[in-house]
Amino acid sequence: MTDLNVDADSTPAFNVSKVEPGSGGSIATWPSKGDVMVEIPMVDSSQSTPSGMSSADLRSAVQQRYSDVSREPTGDWGFRVGRPFAEALGYPAALLNQLPAGAVEAFTGVGTPALFADVHPGDTVVDLGCGGGLDALILGLMSGPRGRVVAVDFAPEMAARARQNVKLMDQPHVEILERLVSDTGLLDASADWVTANGILNLSAAKEEVLDEVFRILRPGGRFLLAEIALREPLPPDRGHSLSDWFR
Ligand SMILES: C[S@@+](CC[C@H](N)C(=O)[O-])C[C@H]1O[C@@H](n2cnc3c(N)ncnc32)[C@H](O)[C@@H]1O
Repeated sequence: MTDLNVDADSTPAFNVSKVEPGSGGSIATWPSKGDVMVEIPMVDSSQSTPSGMSSADLRSAVQQRYSDVSREPTGDWGFRVGRPFAEALGYPAALLNQLPAGAVEAFTGVGTPALFADVHPGDTVVDLGCGGGLDALILGLMSGPRGRVVAVDFAPEMAARARQNVKLMDQPHVEILERLVSDTGLLDASADWVTANGILNLSAAKEEVLDEVFRILRPGGRFLLAEIALREPLPPDRGHSLSDWFR
């Protein structure tokens, strides 16, 4: 879990410096101050898609996979989905009980970022890769009707599920956008918070996602993400197949 406080005086430019594969990751820095803001493990670009797949192929495969998960959350998808997993990660049962079952059964996050976000009534929050909307709905409770939550997902069935759950929760201030997280279409410097729960590991172009985060965050806004990361390089025979992408 990384809580990223963007300095209000900083230039809104963001660099991710890649390091040699196997050396443990890369450091993203805020250049004008030199502060280390977040550490994001990456592989070199030649390893950032499964063998034989372009970034566009990978994107389509991810989109298809999460649409399939939305259609059949109890299927065997290679990763955990649903309420027992959400509770195991730390979402309180009492909170999950307040949400539509359709948001909880399709949960596919990797952590509990919404529980760490210090969102206040009236805040504007952008949730990247919202899936069925579990975090977006929790953030909607925090920001309240004076606030705004914009939740983004490119998988049509996930976005449709999230929209349905927003209706069931009667949260008109929560809006679901079916778009790429690297191209949200939102205004520059418009978000108080950006949250993400398991989105970077699915993307071959992590820098593009981070560029978009820093474009839409207002000065002083905050980025809170839960992510999975490798502690050590994968063995040479791992990481090349599409199924390795969904673990
Ligand atoms: C690991 S799931 C997490 C879903 C949700 N945050 C949750 O906690 O249940 C990632 C979600 O991000 C979406 N996604 C992945 N890559 C995306 C991209 N490049 N643009 C938009 N959505 C993306 C997937 O469709 C999926 O619903």
